Amino acid sequence: MSETIARYLATRRSVAIPALEGPAPDDETLRQMLTTAARVPDHGKLAPWRFILYRGETAARLGTALRELAERREGPLGEVRRDLEEKRFSRSPLVVGVVSRAGPHVKIPEWEQVLSAGAATMNLVHAAHAHGFAANWVTEWVAYDEEAKAILGIAPEEKVAGFVHIGRYLGEPPADRVRPELSDIVSEAVAPGA
Ligand SMILES: Cc1cc2nc3c(=O)[nH]c(=O)nc-3n(C[C@H](O)[C@H](O)[C@H](O)COP(=O)(O)O)c2cc1C
Repeated sequence: MSETIARYLATRRSVAIPALEGPAPDDETLRQMLTTAARVPDHGKLAPWRFILYRGETAARLGTALRELAERREGPLGEVRRDLEEKRFSRSPLVVGVVSRAGPHVKIPEWEQVLSAGAATMNLVHAAHAHGFAANWVTEWVAYDEEAKAILGIAPEEKVAGFVHIGRYLGEPPADRVRPELSDIVSEAVAPGA
């Protein structure tokens, strides 16, 4: 593995969404990023995932619809929450929804299709970095609320793997978070009777 890729993988961190700045990737860069994101292990070649682009004026209008939905559910929102819902999909230059289309199949377990959607989401994060952007993978309530999903163009039988916020980040490297100790998560296999 190239030293550069090894260093990138060993140090990559999510960047806080408000710190992601424009401009968004241009169409050709975005096409390359999505092509890379789709280049993942996928048992049975089902492509059990798809991408939805949230950007520009559409993202702003979707935020208004989500804010109205949250208000219908919860009553008047405080200023901070109202602002968050209104800008949920326009607070970064680009949000890519990675949608799992996993479902029953004669041969390929649904679980493996779900895992492939996760792989596509992580590959998108890596692809964003490869093109000089930073990213943040979130879901939040809109991923689990059927009305919110409908507003966002996601069918009831589909599930959100992630909403990946993408933008430029020119600040200091973000402080790391605690990572698991390998001794807690790695073990040697044990042979029968050993
Ligand atoms: C499927 C999935 C959903 C997530 N949803 C959220 C979320 O809704 N809100 C949040 O603050 N973080 C969420 N996270 C965590 C963020 O991605 C977080 O920034 C990340 O764990 C930081 O790790 P990193 O520095 O290795 O990128 C989610 C992570 C995954 C894998």
